[in-house]
Amino acid sequence: MRKKIIAGNWKMNIKPSETAALVKDIAEATKAYTNVDIVCCTPAIDIPAAVEACKGTQVEAGAENAHWEEKGAYTGEISTGMLVDAGAKYVIIGHSERRQYFGETDETVNKRARAVIAAGLTAIVCVGETLEEREAGKLNEVIERQMNVGLKDVTAADCAKLVIAYEPVWAIGTGKTATPDQAQEVHALIRATLAKLVGADTAETVRIQYGGSMKPGNAAELLAKKDIDGGLIGGAALKAADFAGIIAAAANA
Ligand code: PGA
Repeated sequence: MRKKIIAGNWKMNIKPSETAALVKDIAEATKAYTNVDIVCCTPAIDIPAAVEACKGTQVEAGAENAHWEEKGAYTGEISTGMLVDAGAKYVIIGHSERRQYFGETDETVNKRARAVIAAGLTAIVCVGETLEEREAGKLNEVIERQMNVGLKDVTAADCAKLVIAYEPVWAIGTGKTATPDQAQEVHALIRATLAKLVGADTAETVRIQYGGSMKPGNAAELLAKKDIDGGLIGGAALKAADFAGIIAAAANA
């Protein structure tokens, strides 16, 4: 049995001064759901406040990106060592917004993911197709490429520190959710692709989240699917009650 994992992706929405209150509200609203891993991935500048607010709760803090080099002349970047030092436990890698707006490629996803895992953090590696790719019949090709290149040289042992998020780009922030069947089909493809990389037994242990307009109202039917092990939540992670509603659905799935 894979433990469900629900992670919030705050994106560029919450200030440091607002962070503690949101984390505390989330922790309070979800303390009954001990069978779910709960993560708040925040802008780097919010991480110290998030880590502090997570103390004594079951919520963990995470980041939204990390560089692959440990230190050096990389203006504007954050290293995995800095994140470890600050107390973060998870890092989202390769979110479609990073790919779309900030030049992230499958190759840089691979470098970042391997650095994150090597630092002892858990990488949440995002994959997902655009609407054009889906409509052109390239869904499988895109997912397989993102997996094969993005996870190159990630070993079976590394998979203990790996979560994959399937985020169809057309569903992110649009209110359009993949149907449970559409999502399950891709999750099964992701697991099968992972099995070729690290072996079927290991692939069975890796959690695959769905992301893209997941809300309290649609979480239960998505999380009921065999290969959907959690959610990566944008908009609905910014309101404690909504986020808690999704976590309740995961706890009961
Ligand atoms: P959304 O974002 O829940 O607002 O669609 C999901 C994500 O981008 O991780």
